[in-house]
Amino acid sequence: MTIIAGEIGAGKSVIMHQLLYSLLRAGEPCLFVNFEGPTIVVEQDMQSFGWDIHPYLDKGMLRFLDCFSFRLEPSVQSDPYSHYVKDPKDLRAVSTALFSMMDEMGMTGRGAVFVDSLTEMFTLVQADSPLVYTMLDGIKSWRAKGPKERLVPFFCTHHVPLRAYADLDDLLFYVVDGIFEVGFNPGFAERGLLVKQLRIRRMKGAPHEGYWMTFTVNLDGIKEVPLPIPALAPVLENRKPRTNKKK
Ligand SMILES: Nc1ncnc2c1ncn2[C@@H]1O[C@H](COP(=O)(O)OP(=O)(O)OP(=O)(O)O)[C@@H](O)[C@H]1O
Ligand SMILES: [Mg+2]
Repeated sequence: MTIIAGEIGAGKSVIMHQLLYSLLRAGEPCLFVNFEGPTIVVEQDMQSFGWDIHPYLDKGMLRFLDCFSFRLEPSVQSDPYSHYVKDPKDLRAVSTALFSMMDEMGMTGRGAVFVDSLTEMFTLVQADSPLVYTMLDGIKSWRAKGPKERLVPFFCTHHVPLRAYADLDDLLFYVVDGIFEVGFNPGFAERGLLVKQLRIRRMKGAPHEGYWMTFTVNLDGIKEVPLPIPALAPVLENRKPRTNKKK
């Protein structure tokens, strides 16, 4: 189970959509749990990068578990590719639908599940309510039944820092297997420039580099833009002693 964690607008959803599209193209069945907006908005966002999901919806390779549209009129909930959850606060109902959809789609040892976002799921309940811990326990069960039992990776976005839920973040990061961090380069931010960056903080059981990769979002999705490595400060011992003598 991997978390894509980071600041607002850093690129979490774009990274997730790009990963989803590349897995669909590789023939993997995928399930998208949308908390942040209706299915049509995910479709349109992806279409703006040229990632057309319709063929995969038609082939039954992609399904949505819609945890957003309970806010809309029931008449709007008519998309045949989505299963609508009436009350997403009820994590048991979400989990039952999630695993039965995975089973219907033959997702054991193949495919991937995407959740956008865990933050939206947590904020359905008050930060000081015990229900938050019920949700955290639910995520532990997802990890047990998804990545561990069915061998299907889960990728979940999560907005950090979110002060009211900060205690939860530590527990969440402790529970998951992989953490991708995204944000803005602080050196450039000081000068008023937002330069996006990504690094792998943790990836249990797999080697990885720990450095920040800078990237931009263009019409093809995310693209690495290497920054020049800053020149090292001169080492003091190697400097010639200063002298005030005139030549
Ligand atoms: N369709 C698009 N075309 C061009 N650029 C886009 C598109 N969608 C997003 N971007 C760029 O990518 C940035 C990151 O967007 P994204 O929605 O992935 O952020 P996020 O980390 O998911 O934010 P949030 O915490 O609000 O969910 C946007 O600010 C924008 O600059
Ligand atoms: Mg997002």
